[in-house]
Amino acid sequence: MTESDGKGKIAIVGSGLIGQSWATIFAGSGYGVTIYDIDSEQVTRALANTKLTLERYEQEGCLRGNLSAHQQSSLIRGSNDLKSCLQNAIYVQECVPESIEMKKKVFTQLDEYCEEKTIMASSSSCINSSQFTGDLKHRSNMLIAHPVNPPYFLPLVEIIPAPWTDPEITAQTRSLLEEVGQSPITLNKEVPGFALNRIQYAVINECWSLLQSGVLSAADIDKVMYEGLGRRYAFIGPLETMHLNADGIVDYCKRYAEGAYNVSATFTPPPIRYDIPTAELVEKELGQITPPDKTNERKQWRDSQFAALDKLKRGSN
Ligand code: NAI
Repeated sequence: MTESDGKGKIAIVGSGLIGQSWATIFAGSGYGVTIYDIDSEQVTRALANTKLTLERYEQEGCLRGNLSAHQQSSLIRGSNDLKSCLQNAIYVQECVPESIEMKKKVFTQLDEYCEEKTIMASSSSCINSSQFTGDLKHRSNMLIAHPVNPPYFLPLVEIIPAPWTDPEITAQTRSLLEEVGQSPITLNKEVPGFALNRIQYAVINECWSLLQSGVLSAADIDKVMYEGLGRRYAFIGPLETMHLNADGIVDYCKRYAEGAYNVSATFTPPPIRYDIPTAELVEKELGQITPPDKTNERKQWRDSQFAALDKLKRGSN
């Protein structure tokens, strides 16, 4: 390990949106980060972007950790050679596009170049690692660590081991991610969509069904979440909500399970396909709130709200 590796060397493979986010997170905790991308010009862009992003966070008062933006940027380096990017790395975060073929190709390369103890995590949003690590020598060091966009402000990471992942590797991944300020959860087994997307799809399915049956406008459906459920769930989850809304969750079930069951019996059964005609109607309505030429401004506003909430929650935890 060299001095510029800080507390340890982290390798980021694939330096698009998510790779850059991981780089800022690890550098924020004093780890040395080396970024590799198949496109060498992308590495240059990623280094410039992460530097600008860290400077902006510093100006806006949301930079993580005790180091300055300048110190954090100097912990992030680029590499045009995968082998040297991986040399001495304690942890690799793969961030290449979401395709089994690409994940397979990259993990085969990681398997060849990694050190014996290197942890290799994929950022995949929905492909379980058993779909691309089964034949590899170091498969017990491989697993999924799925972030939520934007990872700097939405700290949940879903850790999903394959059946052959060493439990010690899963535990080490969780403690590393906690140490760098993320909030990991561990799935005990692989399941399609992991946890976040399964829950998200259940919510969207019901939104779609309420739209199609004409019960509410698109804008009012979204309001149910950001003025009601979303505000609640930013602090306590659905199960603790049940627990606190009665004299404990057992009492809640005694009082409300029958009603919830009867309402649930009226749901449109899944799977629900998000069809284009309904999507076009929603787009027309949402276009009145955010015209197409203002989408980027709205995204920036969204991220600044996430940053403000993150600050509040980090202060209140
Ligand atoms: P992206 O398209 O922004 O970046 C992918 C990068 O990988 C590109 O820079 C590309 O040049 C590089 N790349 C392609 N093949 C490569 C190879 N063989 N070796 C090294 N680099 C290679 O993609 P993004 O959005 O950053 O997604 C990356 C992963 O993160 C995907 O698995 C995605 O599902 C997951 N993810 C994405 C989220 C999002 O909101 N965008 C959220 C959570 C996870």
